[in-house]
Amino acid sequence: MARQQQYDVLVIGSGAAGLTLALHLADNLRVAVISKGRLSEGSTFWAQGGVAAVLDDTDTVDAHVQDTLIAGAGLCHEEAVRQIVGDSRDAIGWLVEQGVPFTRERREDGSESDDFHLTREGGHSHRRIIHAADATGAAIFNTLLQQAQAHSNIELLENRVAVDLITSAKLGQPGNRCLGAYILDRDSGHVDTFGARFTVLATGGASKVYLYTSNPDSASGDGIAMAWRAGCRVANMEFNQFHPTCLYHPRAKSFLITEALRGEGALLKLPDGSRFMPRFDDRAELAPRDIVARAIDHEMKRLGLDCVYLDISHKPADFIREHFPTVHERCLSFGIDITREPIPVVPAAHYTCGGVMVDSTGLTDVDHLYAIGETSFTGLHGANRMASNSLLECIVYGRAASRDILDKLPESALPDQLPTWDESLVTDSDEDVIISHNWEELRRFMWDYVGIVRTTKRLQRAKHRVDMLLAEIHEFYSNYTVSRDLLELRNLALVADLIIRSAMLRQESRGLHYTLDYPQQLEQAQDTILQPPSADD
Ligand code: FAD
Ligand code: SIN
Repeated sequence: MARQQQYDVLVIGSGAAGLTLALHLADNLRVAVISKGRLSEGSTFWAQGGVAAVLDDTDTVDAHVQDTLIAGAGLCHEEAVRQIVGDSRDAIGWLVEQGVPFTRERREDGSESDDFHLTREGGHSHRRIIHAADATGAAIFNTLLQQAQAHSNIELLENRVAVDLITSAKLGQPGNRCLGAYILDRDSGHVDTFGARFTVLATGGASKVYLYTSNPDSASGDGIAMAWRAGCRVANMEFNQFHPTCLYHPRAKSFLITEALRGEGALLKLPDGSRFMPRFDDRAELAPRDIVARAIDHEMKRLGLDCVYLDISHKPADFIREHFPTVHERCLSFGIDITREPIPVVPAAHYTCGGVMVDSTGLTDVDHLYAIGETSFTGLHGANRMASNSLLECIVYGRAASRDILDKLPESALPDQLPTWDESLVTDSDEDVIISHNWEELRRFMWDYVGIVRTTKRLQRAKHRVDMLLAEIHEFYSNYTVSRDLLELRNLALVADLIIRSAMLRQESRGLHYTLDYPQQLEQAQDTILQPPSADD
């Protein structure tokens, strides 16, 4: 039987953003945190490199801000960058207080000092990446989860897929306030109704829209799609970041080789052992990601290669094993000993720089609806996210949104009884092959036509195909019982459409959006903002 539940705050997503927000609220409010699979399902758990923050005395907020603005190719919102970078020291302080075991510097005698070890990544002019070896995301996730599990006001619910937001506008009431969400309970198969004073989208990114990605299966852009359907604007969806170095091996699904390897001296090489990055940028292997990914793509196409190579074997083996135990072990499991040989790598879709438009507290265009973390668009990343700025954004905005929610509490009643999900008109599908076929088709044409290098013709082809898929999926969704796969496909197709439309609107090459038809960068940098149709359109 479908159920009705009520919470002060419904947090959709159990990654760094969702857990941070929940922990900041739980002393005052009853919070539900849901995840569509296991709680560890999001990208957070897989983050390797670390969190960028101004921690070293020789580093400054200004320097971190400038590096971010440069990587963002003129499109970052400076006030958002200053807010997030300015809060970075506090954000790390809070994580340390929660118990995150960040790696410490070693003294000459090999013992650990009190100082944290800071590594380097592309675009950063200083060592400023705090990390837990090369498994920083798991260290943050496990620590925050443990804290959340210990809090009686936080209910953690696995296997719950948010289907859609419930808003006053959808119910034909005045204004547009979010009242909660319909949630598929994958264990019972029913769609429950969750009412909440405040709803928070912390659903991560949408890189699963591409055939090859570093992201886990959860990254299907659900938050962006739900927000759009609820009436929120989205911005800069054309800026899809491709990480330059994912392991190239037939059995390695989505395994990232952290940029920190290049920060510690790893070199990109062609099969003949020669370096190529110095030909593309003075910063060579430590140029921002858009430049490195494009250079690899160029060399692979020029020479007809399946991959290029990342080589750190010139460093001492002990150093490699200590700093990169995860990468070392994983590669070894595929027969590659990174202390002795180069790693075959290819670029793969990694991060969604655009997202749901929010203000400086994470509030969206819909009252009582927040979006935080990768699903949001704060203005931090511009046309290209700088490495390790995203976990920082999750922590800073988790806290900013919690403060705004606490401020607004006195004027926020729990919603009245909400309509239950109507299952009377749908039946079980006997053609699930349509879902898997459409998944594959969508992700392949996005990779081929809307990838690292674009053209107007390719975008038009993609638009044509996505229009057909959207119609087919809409029909399927209207007639059959919802499942996680169907919901994800529906959201991915919508997000693909938003990406293609945004890419078609940008008639220049900037940051991650590179098109052969408009290779120049326009003088004036402008966001691409899409407005959803209103109920009356
Ligand atoms: P996520 O951690 O992705 O969590 C999303 C949550 O939403 C999950 O719990 C998921 O189940 C849930 N969810 C989604 N849709 C629904 C739905 N419909 N219903 C219910 N639940 C839903 N960034 C850095 O700053 N530093 C790094 O070193 C770094 N390394 C990375 C390495 C890898 C391999 C990857 C993939 C990313 C990396 N990133 C890194 C990026 C960073 O990890 C992510 O941007 C960040 O973790 C996103 O956190 P989040 O809380 O927004 O979402
Ligand atoms: C990495 O470790 O290379 C990923 C860092 C990031 O995506 O910010």
